[in-house]
Amino acid sequence: MHTLEYSTKKITTTSIYLSHDKQYFRTLVGDRKFVVISSENLIKTYPEIFHNVNLITIDDTEEHKNLATVESIIGKLSALGIDRSYIIIGIGGGIVCDITGFVAHIYMRGVRFGLVPTTLLSLADAAIGGKNGVNYLNYKNMIGSFDNPDFIVANSDFVQTLPEVQYMSGLGEIIKYALIGNSEILKILSSDKEKVLARDSSTMQKIIAEAINTKIEIVKQDPTDKGIRHILNFGHTIGHSIEITENIPHGIAVVKGINAATDISVKTGLLSDDKAKQIKQLLSSYGYDISYHLGEKHIEAMANDKKKENSNINFVLLEDIGKPTVRNLTIDKIAELVG
Ligand SMILES: NC(=O)c1ccc[n+]([C@@H]2O[C@H](COP(=O)([O-])OP(=O)(O)OC[C@H]3O[C@@H](n4cnc5c(N)ncnc54)[C@H](O)[C@@H]3O)[C@@H](O)[C@H]2O)c1
Repeated sequence: MHTLEYSTKKITTTSIYLSHDKQYFRTLVGDRKFVVISSENLIKTYPEIFHNVNLITIDDTEEHKNLATVESIIGKLSALGIDRSYIIIGIGGGIVCDITGFVAHIYMRGVRFGLVPTTLLSLADAAIGGKNGVNYLNYKNMIGSFDNPDFIVANSDFVQTLPEVQYMSGLGEIIKYALIGNSEILKILSSDKEKVLARDSSTMQKIIAEAINTKIEIVKQDPTDKGIRHILNFGHTIGHSIEITENIPHGIAVVKGINAATDISVKTGLLSDDKAKQIKQLLSSYGYDISYHLGEKHIEAMANDKKKENSNINFVLLEDIGKPTVRNLTIDKIAELVG
């Protein structure tokens, strides 16, 4: 018997532009035809951006981050006659970016796309790294793809119009970057709290650029999330379970998850009490309610989380501030540790 084999490798390069021009995507698109996916909120807040564009509007809520929305976008793309010669531009927060990337990946077996993230969370995290997708039933981001956009325009000025809760949610992810190893962000968070809370323009620019750099460095080593990229999930295993069961914004739930993971790091003898105290002080100094009460429903949500492998979870703990480590723990062990 003969075996015929072949392999193909898709190598993509994403360019990230740190620009203050909200319309910079038009320059990048150049002569190509394009269509924009965004939401009512963005259109209301920044009408000038959407002037004279082919526009598909979606409801950017977690309840609508699903296959029904994907299907309705595909219907609209098809009705507009969009083919592979077009580029799809997603302008919005993590929901718009995640959905745009997934739609672009599957529509006509793949069209090119670009992202203009507009929340702190999407600027610093969600838009970077090529993970796209939608929720399925109660499972977050269960259906999706790995595909990198042609470009990302990271304009830190967008954070100025975010509602406070959204800003604090994004800041939760920024704190995560500080604790998993970005000492520059840690320094800014520790010494420039007033500027951070006031969304000082140059401070925003700095922390977003730092977060992007850290994410790029990690993603380059592990594009499909099989190894070192797990450290980006610091605070997320428990954070996701809180987000899903208590309906708390992503980054705010992640802060509670960071606190819980810090406690587990101490209980497992990895982290000193002193360092844990420093972490808790940092979180509380930003006004977060870091309390958490985990019960059956949280454990069940963790068990259902797609990141589990069999009944084990790759759980991110800290050996020190800036020194994450991934441990494969059983659900039972986690339940015992957070109990
Ligand atoms: N792909 C990834 O790697 C990754 C990583 C982290 C999070 N995520 C996903 O990101 C999603 C959360 O994204 P998010 O926190 O960016 O929020 P979001 O997309 O849910 O948007 C939150 C709200 O802010 C509004 N908004 C967006 N930009 C605005 C602006 N500049 N001014 C005023 N309002 C604005 C939106 O219309 C929406 O109402 C989750 O679904 C999560 O799963 C993905």
